[in-house]
Amino acid sequence: MGVESKKSAPIGVFDSGVGGLTVVREIVRQLPNENIVYFGDTARVPYGSKSRQTIIRFSEQIIRFLKTKEVKAIVIACNTASALALDAVRDEYDIPILGVVVPGARAAVEATVNKKVGVVGTDATVQSGGYWAVEVIEKACPLFVPLVDEGFKEHVVTREIIEYYLESMRATDIDAMILGCTHYPLLRSKIRAYLGDRIQIVNPAYETAMDLRALLKEQAMENDGTEDRKSHYEF
Ligand code: DGL
Repeated sequence: MGVESKKSAPIGVFDSGVGGLTVVREIVRQLPNENIVYFGDTARVPYGSKSRQTIIRFSEQIIRFLKTKEVKAIVIACNTASALALDAVRDEYDIPILGVVVPGARAAVEATVNKKVGVVGTDATVQSGGYWAVEVIEKACPLFVPLVDEGFKEHVVTREIIEYYLESMRATDIDAMILGCTHYPLLRSKIRAYLGDRIQIVNPAYETAMDLRALLKEQAMENDGTEDRKSHYEF
């Protein structure tokens, strides 16, 4: 790929389903000139209850698919796949691959004052220990993903399930909590209403898009918008 075609090549983004769109939203905000190809694996969601081997295999298949779209970089917009598969796939391909766990952990370290951080995520992410770079209190919230997928955000059961999962978290003295699953920002206002203002909610999407921007700049791959009149998004 020549330098100019590399600049206009799309960014590949994937998740187990719709959650990764919360990361796409942030990439679009911060990198409005970039073209994006998004793959949501809605046929095989949830990843959170699957084994590491399965998640690595799914990630490899999706990366191979995105490579057929000539992407110049890939963002794994899924905490579960970032925590369990990123290390295994990163060096296998000739394009940069970014995850959401490291950016999220970094944002939480910056947000916390008392160095006690909560993490909510899928079972697989919580068991992976991916976030243990900071002192964390973790809680798997597996029902959040189907609530989002089924459009239950405003349903009364969502409030009850948030309380069921987060009651113990609210009782701790954490002052920041990472939304360690890309589906969860879609429940952010409800989670915020339950936790109150004492706990800062950290959405790794913002920091991930910042990392992507830095990487594209460093590798001279930024789309400066001179070739395309309008960014192209494919889902
Ligand atoms: N959105 C995925 C994540 O960030 C999880 C959803 C799932 O269990 O597939 O971890």
